[in-house]
Amino acid sequence: MKLFDVYPLFNITPVKAEGCYVWDSEENKYLDLYGGHAVISIGHSHPNYVEKISTQLSQIGFYSNSIQNPLQQELAEKLGEVSGCSDYQLFLCNSGAEANENAIKLASFVTGKKKFISYKKGFHGRTSAAVALTDNPKIIAPVNETENAIILPFNDIEATENILKKGDVAAIIVEGIQGIGGINIPEKYFLTDLKKLTEKYKTLLILDEIQSGYGRSGRFFAFQYSNVQPDLITVAKGMGNGFPIGGVLIQPEIEPWFGMLGTTFGGNHLACAAGIAVLDVIQQESLVENSEKVGNYLMKKLAEISSDYEIRGKGLMIGIESKFPIKELRQKLLFEYGIFTGVSGQNIIRLLPPLNLTIEQADQFLNAFSKAFADVSARLIEQ
Ligand SMILES: Cc1ncc(COP(=O)(O)O)c(C=O)c1O
Repeated sequence: MKLFDVYPLFNITPVKAEGCYVWDSEENKYLDLYGGHAVISIGHSHPNYVEKISTQLSQIGFYSNSIQNPLQQELAEKLGEVSGCSDYQLFLCNSGAEANENAIKLASFVTGKKKFISYKKGFHGRTSAAVALTDNPKIIAPVNETENAIILPFNDIEATENILKKGDVAAIIVEGIQGIGGINIPEKYFLTDLKKLTEKYKTLLILDEIQSGYGRSGRFFAFQYSNVQPDLITVAKGMGNGFPIGGVLIQPEIEPWFGMLGTTFGGNHLACAAGIAVLDVIQQESLVENSEKVGNYLMKKLAEISSDYEIRGKGLMIGIESKFPIKELRQKLLFEYGIFTGVSGQNIIRLLPPLNLTIEQADQFLNAFSKAFADVSARLIEQ
């Protein structure tokens, strides 16, 4: 059987990874400024994480959600403590799209309404309701097209209120910081204004923190830069440091009933062990603070290298928007300097490294970036 060929691949085969480094099958070493798409939070193969999952696997890896699993409660308590959201309830699932799908469903159950608002350049996943609210027509199949999804310009409070006035919106979904759309930070009062509107029009606010959460932004959640309490918060990516796990944090007034949500694999023993290890390491190694410190350092130094690009970001979620397509620059960084970076559209490099990136590793990237950028931009200007 051959694989269904949906991913353009680099010709690199990682076989080993540790901290912020990855090695390929040819023994080349790479600095990972991409974190496998914002997934690696505590660093590759962290010893506490390996130990916790291995021990758990030797005891019990899985049983269904019909028995007591104290690891789920332990994970929920730890997440509440580390995130500062201890009064929320937690529903566990397996991925980001699934977390959003459940949040959307929950908002619809609770309000009895069908319509949802999201924003341009937003990404919420590829399952049915989540993809309908994602601003990318290429990934919306005919079966996913729905009048229930209303996609508005980002930061547009007036347009949002005009839709809410009709009274049929169950929830607004918005990323803490738009990731795939190019690292777009909500304007200063956008989230707080949205929260006020959702209260006024009896609708819910869903914060998609799948990419921007778990310390990536220099706060546990990116929305914590604003003074808001979302009704629902969705998480995945950094939550398991590579182990598939996702979740919905649900405000205390929302009451569950048996069967309201469900999943076979969500909250299994192994996933919980991974999730607990991640939170322990985030806390023990002050990774949220490190994300803010090293992120600020990177953004300051990047601004000193050149004024030929725009830098946007918070913590270790950084976008560098260039005036020219960055494909060649990214390839140079990878194949000449051994540095993985991410991308958004044609012109934006995205940095999403493990949260334990050090200043020395940031310097390694900055040295390489300044040379590669000078090289590529000089040649493009010549042409
Ligand atoms: C903000 C955001 N929401 C949702 C998702 C979907 O997550 P998953 O790929 O785990 O389904 C992503 C994935 O990139 C994301 O960045």
